[in-house]
Amino acid sequence: MPTLITGAGQVGSYVARALVDRGETPVLFDVHPRRDAVGEIVDLHRVKLLRGSVLDMTDLIHVIKEESIDHIIHTAAILPTPDAKPHLAVQVNVMGLVNVLEAARALDVRRVVYTSSIVLYYGAYPKHPPAGAITEEAPVDRIPGFFYGTTKIAAEYVGLDYADALGVDFVAPRLGHVWGVWSGAFGAPISILLHMLVEGALNGEKVTIDQPMLVWGGREGFVHVRNVAQALIRARDAEKLEHRTFNITDARQYAFSEFLDEIRKHIPGAEFEVKVPLTGGYAGTAAVLDQPYDISRARRELGYEPEVDLAEGIAEYIQWARRKRSATNKTS
Ligand SMILES: NC(=O)c1ccc[n+]([C@@H]2O[C@H](COP(=O)([O-])OP(=O)(O)OC[C@H]3O[C@@H](n4cnc5c(N)ncnc54)[C@H](O)[C@@H]3O)[C@@H](O)[C@H]2O)c1
Repeated sequence: MPTLITGAGQVGSYVARALVDRGETPVLFDVHPRRDAVGEIVDLHRVKLLRGSVLDMTDLIHVIKEESIDHIIHTAAILPTPDAKPHLAVQVNVMGLVNVLEAARALDVRRVVYTSSIVLYYGAYPKHPPAGAITEEAPVDRIPGFFYGTTKIAAEYVGLDYADALGVDFVAPRLGHVWGVWSGAFGAPISILLHMLVEGALNGEKVTIDQPMLVWGGREGFVHVRNVAQALIRARDAEKLEHRTFNITDARQYAFSEFLDEIRKHIPGAEFEVKVPLTGGYAGTAAVLDQPYDISRARRELGYEPEVDLAEGIAEYIQWARRKRSATNKTS
């Protein structure tokens, strides 16, 4: 029976591709499906790409019944952008999940896999600086004024209550900062940064990085989007889970300079000038981290093993950027 993937953005598209590779025909459900971007990642003939909103119960119930859905991987969300509207973010990120959980409960969907975030820990770091590896038991707190982070905490906790009180099988992988090839809309700083570095370097320009949001000190918890897809599908399939929350990152954390160095290996002569100090955390957060995220729970219970590392992900990204440029040059 097919899996419903809410949200056909970066993560949803890669989950769909990984399911297609396993011989499944997933159903992607998005309020604004971007066929071109999704079609670059997954063969559109092998998925169902439907337009619909997680805020519309009728749409949700209809698709679950009509497509005989037995699992849901919920990726639909409003990501943080400078113009993020709190009302919409709370509606989609919290009530969207509540609708998915209610529909799952009413229609006996076997499991709902949520896309939580390591941003849950960020608000707690200043008060409780992590001494060692960051496990799922590390304190969770909001970052004052950061609606997106608060919606991710609220939604995860609501999902856990649906599991505890109402028996909905809910699993919440907490994803690191997602990176990888994607030409749809992006707001995540790492996507903006990679685009800027690679396009500038391929144009032979010196790239100046002068936005504090795009740099970070220490080492941060990123996760390649193909590793994310693996983790979410394993979270869908794992039996006899002892826990419902799992840290999901790449095998190790990356410093800002490592992305630059890796790009230079593929684009000789690439010139980058960093004009802002690397004194803050990722995306303008206060905490500078060097501790790794502990992914041993995901390894043990889900069988998760990150396959794509920095070298492979950057090589793939640059190959893709080069292919796109030569295709554009041919048509212009
Ligand atoms: N990108 C990251 O760094 C990151 C990190 C941790 C967790 N996450 C979580 O992973 C999930 C997927 O993120 P992504 O990077 O693929 O984001 P994305 O923006 O690429 O995809 C989200 C998709 O949800 C869709 N959507 C928005 N409102 C909707 C609605 N009402 N109904 C149906 N679809 C709707 C959007 O159109 C978009 O295509 C999100 O829950 C996000 O919070 C992302």
